[in-house]
Amino acid sequence: MRIHVVDHPLVAHKLSTLRDERTDSPTFRRLADELVTLLAYEATRDVLVDQVVLRTPVSETTGVKLSYPRPLVVPILRAGLGMLDGMVRLLPTAEVGFLGMIRDEGTLQPSTYATRMPDDLTGRQAYVLDPMLATGGTLVAATQLLIDRGARDVTALCLLAAPEGVALMQEAFKDSSVPVTVVTAAVDERLNEHGYIVPGLGDAGDRLYGTA
Ligand code: URA
Repeated sequence: MRIHVVDHPLVAHKLSTLRDERTDSPTFRRLADELVTLLAYEATRDVLVDQVVLRTPVSETTGVKLSYPRPLVVPILRAGLGMLDGMVRLLPTAEVGFLGMIRDEGTLQPSTYATRMPDDLTGRQAYVLDPMLATGGTLVAATQLLIDRGARDVTALCLLAAPEGVALMQEAFKDSSVPVTVVTAAVDERLNEHGYIVPGLGDAGDRLYGTA
């Protein structure tokens, strides 16, 4: 498993405003959207392209087009939905699948309550959207599901990560023949006893959807 922490002043600026408890939901949604697009730029570094021949108004030349089979983007419900627009803006050919996962706040174990994506992902590049890599249980389960369906590689985009979640992903996929990458804006200090990332930004779903 490869982790890529995007080190850029614009990313740090947007993340700082997302962390600030005074940031209201509309601003949080907009900034999360912008931040995802910046993460998506890094996360799609290895997206497959085909060579094409085209004509400019001046001459013939060669270029590239996003390849087929189409990449699959999978937001994990509910908070991952807040990352979808920012991702597909950069990957307009992507197909979108959905994964409903919830973690039990007592045991912190994930369970799947909805799956809407192709059964066969052979040869497809998959991008998972999950804003908070906390204990890592949800992301490990989602990544494994995509690998089991044949994904060629899996890249997770997370606004923030905890060292515990990164370690669980590393352990789970250390021998994986399918490349797994996590792209995030920061790895924070730790998880607290309630499974929240410290300093973090609170409950991403609540802050996105104004339920805090
Ligand atoms: N999920 C969140 O929304 N926030 C955290 O800090 C951890 C998990």
